[in-house]
Amino acid sequence: MTRGWLTLDYSNVLAASVGQAHGLTPAEIRRAEPAVAAIVRRVEGERKDGLHRYRALADDRTLIATVRAAVRRHQAGIENLVVLGIGGSALGNIALQTALNPPYHNLLPAGRRRGPRLFVMDNVDPVQFGHLLEVLGPTLRRTLFNVISKSGETAETAAQFLIVRDLLAQRLGTRALPRRILITTDARSGTFREIAEREGYDSLPVPDGVGGRFSVLSAVGLFSAAMCGLNVAQLLAGAAAMSKRAAGVTVRKNPATMLALLLHAFYVRGKRLHVMMPYSFQLKDLADWYRQLWAESLGKSQDLDGQPVVVGPTPIRALGATDQHSQVQLYREGPNDKVFIFLEVERFARGVKVPRGSALPEALAYLQGASLARLLNAEKQATEAALMASARPCLTIRFPQITEHTVGQFIMLWEAATTLMGSLLHINPYDQPAVQLGKELTFALMGRRGYERQAKELARHAAGRGKHVV
Ligand code: PA5
Repeated sequence: MTRGWLTLDYSNVLAASVGQAHGLTPAEIRRAEPAVAAIVRRVEGERKDGLHRYRALADDRTLIATVRAAVRRHQAGIENLVVLGIGGSALGNIALQTALNPPYHNLLPAGRRRGPRLFVMDNVDPVQFGHLLEVLGPTLRRTLFNVISKSGETAETAAQFLIVRDLLAQRLGTRALPRRILITTDARSGTFREIAEREGYDSLPVPDGVGGRFSVLSAVGLFSAAMCGLNVAQLLAGAAAMSKRAAGVTVRKNPATMLALLLHAFYVRGKRLHVMMPYSFQLKDLADWYRQLWAESLGKSQDLDGQPVVVGPTPIRALGATDQHSQVQLYREGPNDKVFIFLEVERFARGVKVPRGSALPEALAYLQGASLARLLNAEKQATEAALMASARPCLTIRFPQITEHTVGQFIMLWEAATTLMGSLLHINPYDQPAVQLGKELTFALMGRRGYERQAKELARHAAGRGKHVV
């Protein structure tokens, strides 16, 4: 497998490219380097003390063996793999599948797929979920449900699980359940761990000290990837290679450090909207994964000293070339409060060309013989140049090719950059207290015991509902 390195091109965030008012000077970058290098040294020390555990996943050989053994236990005769999970328990699975399997994987006949069809259900929309179950009905006996929840408490995943368990029991009988359900959850505790043990389901562990949005390279993301034929060893090898680069204290050789330094410098200067815009359909869901990682990790109201703060860049996902016809008007002429992070692919896995020889009007003749890859990359270059003409800073992360190795690098690049950005913002990137409150209020609204106080509070709010409606 060709490996190749991701590169981070920051030429077009410099003052020389976008002007003094909106660009960074090399001197500014140099001045910021020692502080970021010091954070890298500290993080590396803390890793030896067992912190930043997601970084260790990339070197964990037993993880691959565990995942592959689970695939061997479950793959025979499976036509559909359905992941039930949400947030960090779903977005990585979706991103890996979109990046590394063909775009219409699920539509291919079994003989042309590298594994089962994959459905990742990360919502409780009744129409969507109900329809999926209806569609799967005739093949339930050849369907595996991978229920993923670190906490084992998440209402959406729990509801999906209960519905599926009941359906399977009715259609196939309770004795069939252990062959149809695999639970990925905390190795020792939690509701799903108890259920797995009591009802005899096979299970995979979510490693200790690794939060949902940092867990894609654990069994959480790797099981569905391996079932669907992706090379998980190469994914981890790419992540391990980037983790090694991320440990280097020479900022100019360390893309994770440079990314955090630049995005922090722009954040401080008021550019707090970070738009990731892949020019590749395959990378679009990695941008969605990044959106959660950056938002949930960095949006915080308390700093590391317990002081109140209001911090956090807002990540935005766009897709090139599609969003050129939807967002770029705003990006060029609206407020100059954004940094653009393009994802560019040098070599696409397929070549598709516009045919030659047809009698075309002059206005379309330039397209004859052109490859779609060239057109897409020209669109990226043109959009970037247009943004720069409006003094908008643009970063590019370049993929030589989209492979398991480069996707592994990309994941580790952003995870490591998130840790560093958390330090630069002086907040804890690993918690999500604000998400917790919403989870608790949902419990209260749904009548869960122990949440009566929140239910009363909500009832007070509800009393005002409907009074001002147009
Ligand atoms: O990153 C996170 O911690 C969250 O997005 C969780 O992944 C999400 O809330 C789902 O939690 P759980 O896996 O416990 O069901």
